[in-house]
Amino acid sequence: TIPAVETEVLIVGAGPAGAAAGALLATYGIDAMMINKYNSVANTPRAHITNQRAMEVLRDLGLERQAKAASTPQNLMGDHVYATSLAGQELGRIRTWYTHPSFKAEHDLASPTAVCDIPQDKMEPILVGAASYRGTTVRSGTELLGFEQDDDGVTSTLRDRVTGEQYTVRSRYLIGADGGRSLVAEQLGLRFEGEMVASASMNVVFRADLSHLVEHRPSDMYWFLQQGVGHGGVGVGVLRVVDTWDRWVGVWGFDASQGTPELTDELGTSIAHKLIGDDTVPVEIESLSTWGVNRKYAVENTRGRAFIVGDAAHRHSPMNGLGSNTSIQDSYNLAWKLALVLRGLAGPGLLESYAEERLPIAKHLVDRTVRSEGLMPGMFKALRLPPGFEESVLAQVLENLEAPTEEGAERRAEFRAAMDATLACFNTHGMELNQFYSSRAVVTDGAEAPVPERDVELHYFPSSFPGHHLPHAWVVKDQRRTPIFDLCGKGGFTILAGDRGAAWRDAAAVVSEELGLPLDVVVIGRGGDYEDAYGDFAAVAQIGELGALLVRPDHMIGWRTTETADADELLRVLRSILDR
Ligand code: FDA
Repeated sequence: TIPAVETEVLIVGAGPAGAAAGALLATYGIDAMMINKYNSVANTPRAHITNQRAMEVLRDLGLERQAKAASTPQNLMGDHVYATSLAGQELGRIRTWYTHPSFKAEHDLASPTAVCDIPQDKMEPILVGAASYRGTTVRSGTELLGFEQDDDGVTSTLRDRVTGEQYTVRSRYLIGADGGRSLVAEQLGLRFEGEMVASASMNVVFRADLSHLVEHRPSDMYWFLQQGVGHGGVGVGVLRVVDTWDRWVGVWGFDASQGTPELTDELGTSIAHKLIGDDTVPVEIESLSTWGVNRKYAVENTRGRAFIVGDAAHRHSPMNGLGSNTSIQDSYNLAWKLALVLRGLAGPGLLESYAEERLPIAKHLVDRTVRSEGLMPGMFKALRLPPGFEESVLAQVLENLEAPTEEGAERRAEFRAAMDATLACFNTHGMELNQFYSSRAVVTDGAEAPVPERDVELHYFPSSFPGHHLPHAWVVKDQRRTPIFDLCGKGGFTILAGDRGAAWRDAAAVVSEELGLPLDVVVIGRGGDYEDAYGDFAAVAQIGELGALLVRPDHMIGWRTTETADADELLRVLRSILDR
């Protein structure tokens, strides 16, 4: 018998969730092994919107520059055009991904990073590369067949798909990042809620230089109300940029109850030409694939020493572009906890906060995307376009839309409202950054959480209340500005103290010694480590001059106080968070 390979954490899956876990654990010094059933990373573009919170994870990993270099930047993403085809009549536009000036301000005030568009086949190599370079063992062509767990660890049976050989891996923990058909979730018998949806879409990846049709109205996506779309999937034809402006994905819905069409290059070319609206444009088909939309979320994501992250725990429509983003954030939530428990710096109770913190996010995410899915058909309804309409009906509808009559005015108003409503399929800044946690890994003083004044899905609500995302502030040292984000993270806890908070250094030193836990202290204010030159920090931190924010390794506020430094209180808080 071959002796079991040993590792601290076995990660099943090398998609956005698994690869992020692999990169994070390696960065935190954990011995991990990551397997991928397939021989390569994603070989089609798939997910692409990379929101500020996911970019923050990449920034914390030191990968933001690489990610930006692989991306289409925000300023080229925003003009979502609704039209009959790319070359055809424009029906209207909406400004998405926070490119409207009023939203742009909110976006820029929320984080040192920016939303961008990184196709999944460019994102995965960055994360997998970092995981591998930093020491995670990466095995492609390796499949999980099953696993068993006991009190001390997990024994997994793997199959090398190149040699056919089977072997076992003994790990302290197992992360199931194995996607929407998760074997790990199934074998753990985790409970899910939600439903499968019968509709389906086809992705056609192709090369064609479309600069002449898009350069003057740059966007990451163009949406088409056309004859033949509107049956399944997202319900609208889409052209989405992969490389500006010569590599594209065309998305086309089909009625899955009628079976899957044969995926030929001819079909791909005809779909690309319909979406472009000009069949003289040379098109080179790369691939065709189909995908369906689920509406399912786990109501349990942990059993014993095994966890599920990413699509394994939430499966939903691509509307709002939250899939790979949330997957990366699941791993960001779990990785530091595993690292501290494995190093003996936290008790196993800390791991229970993963379920407490991430299950509500999964449910909310699926709920939001279901509502977003319902918004696109509103445009067909407003135009009085029945399902399966003929080309001649569309022509009549467009004529009605321009009619200088009362009825025309009604139609125009209704259609404008329907188009504007679709903004909630894209601009959900609150969904991205308002992931409030209430769990054993967050300590409050019993005060009520502040109530957001605006829609929590649409607008980010910056707050330093424990359980919130670290608000963004610029501080200055040696004339150079730095976001407070960069003073925290990298696997460790940080104390950000106010002007007269230097005593937190001594308090932290006592606690650090007692717990064996590294604790960074940064004093921000006049004469501190950084100057609060813009007054940003005092405004967002809400801790006065004496108090402090305790920032968790995932840049969430773990605790805050306006009181003067107190080692006993800090020790009590950290013991509570760390289950010690
Ligand atoms: P993912 O499915 O990516 O990876 C699973 C991994 O597990 C793979 O490496 C696979 O090989 C491995 N695996 C599975 N079973 C295994 C086994 N038994 N043994 C070993 N390995 C195994 N999201 C977003 O944030 N923004 C967006 O704009 C979009 N847009 C979008 C468009 C389209 C058309 C689709 C289909 C999807 C999106 N998404 C998206 C969603 C996004 O693609 C999806 O949420 C992520 O890929 C999920 O990442 P995971 O890592 O969880 O799973």
